[in-house]
Amino acid sequence: LRSAEEMQLQARFDERIDAGDFIEAKDWMPDNYRKTLTRQISQHAHSEIVGMLPEGNWIGRAPTLKRKAILLAKVQDEGGHGLYLYAAAETLGQSRDQLLDGLHSGRAKYSSIFNYPTLTWADIGVIGWLVDGAAIMNQVPICRCSYAPYARAMIRICREESFHQRQGYDALLVMMTKGTEAQKAMVQDAVNRWWWPSIMMFGPPDDQSPNTAQSMRWGIKRVSNDDLRQKFIDATVDQAKVLGITLPDPDLKWNEARGHWDFGVIDWAEFWRVVGGDGPCNRERLAMRVQAWEDGEWVREAALAHARKHSPDAPT
Ligand code: ACO
Repeated sequence: LRSAEEMQLQARFDERIDAGDFIEAKDWMPDNYRKTLTRQISQHAHSEIVGMLPEGNWIGRAPTLKRKAILLAKVQDEGGHGLYLYAAAETLGQSRDQLLDGLHSGRAKYSSIFNYPTLTWADIGVIGWLVDGAAIMNQVPICRCSYAPYARAMIRICREESFHQRQGYDALLVMMTKGTEAQKAMVQDAVNRWWWPSIMMFGPPDDQSPNTAQSMRWGIKRVSNDDLRQKFIDATVDQAKVLGITLPDPDLKWNEARGHWDFGVIDWAEFWRVVGGDGPCNRERLAMRVQAWEDGEWVREAALAHARKHSPDAPT
């Protein structure tokens, strides 16, 4: 049974949500709101950090100095996004060590997309165009998330993501307009492999998404998984035409009545397999993160020892 005071706090919280107010870390919030946000923000942070791996793999093999500098900056941005997001998640009460333990033990999820391999240089362009393009579509509405520390972090993240999308599109455009036949075929092959996983990134269909209704009620999610997926597909079809590539879906067809592109059936069994840990690179990605965490132990110890020297209140 809840106390009268708690019911009053709940009513006040609901009113603020309905009025479109932002909730700050120090404000009262229901336990489930806190839990949902910790889950989503920490999964988002893990995705940024694991997302450094597929592309980091190509920094040493970028074809020109310019492409290498761009890729290096992009991968560093992703590290930064992970750090802002861990900081935003920490405002809800869990420590960074607890959040990272969730990732390293395999309990916490991260985006399915980062469990696919980067086989050629064209994959790097396609990740920018499709994966970062999908990420922006999903993340712009989060700039209006009801939890203010998350919304604030997303503003800078979205600005950087749009640079990521543009650099990928530019790399593909150069290959498609100035490249050899082999380079064009390499781009088409990468698009064929990344298209379906990219549209799965938005999550399960709305009628199979256990969290959407409540998250939308709380203003954590502003647009549903299916609506974002449709918006992304609608925007991407024309970009594919400009690039001169074919999206690997024979059912893509303009639907005049809906005012949207119809698309084929998504293989949700594959999505759940990858989310469940059995995608092409899940084991490799997690092993790399755990290894990086263990290798970094001496750095964390040294940083703490240094902090203790300068402030007796620093954590031991
Ligand atoms: N990869 C892995 N897991 C996913 C994915 C995905 N692409 N989509 C959904 N899921 C998981 C959800 O986390 C949820 O699992 P959980 O309840 O154990 O946490 C389950 O599938 C059911 O999905 P939903 O009920 O739709 O979950 P939710 O309301 O959280 O929506 C979404 C999922 C859209 C990914 C949401 O959490 C979100 O917008 N997150 C922030 C953005 C983000 O994390 N982006 C990461 C990739 S972009 C990048 O890093 C470049």
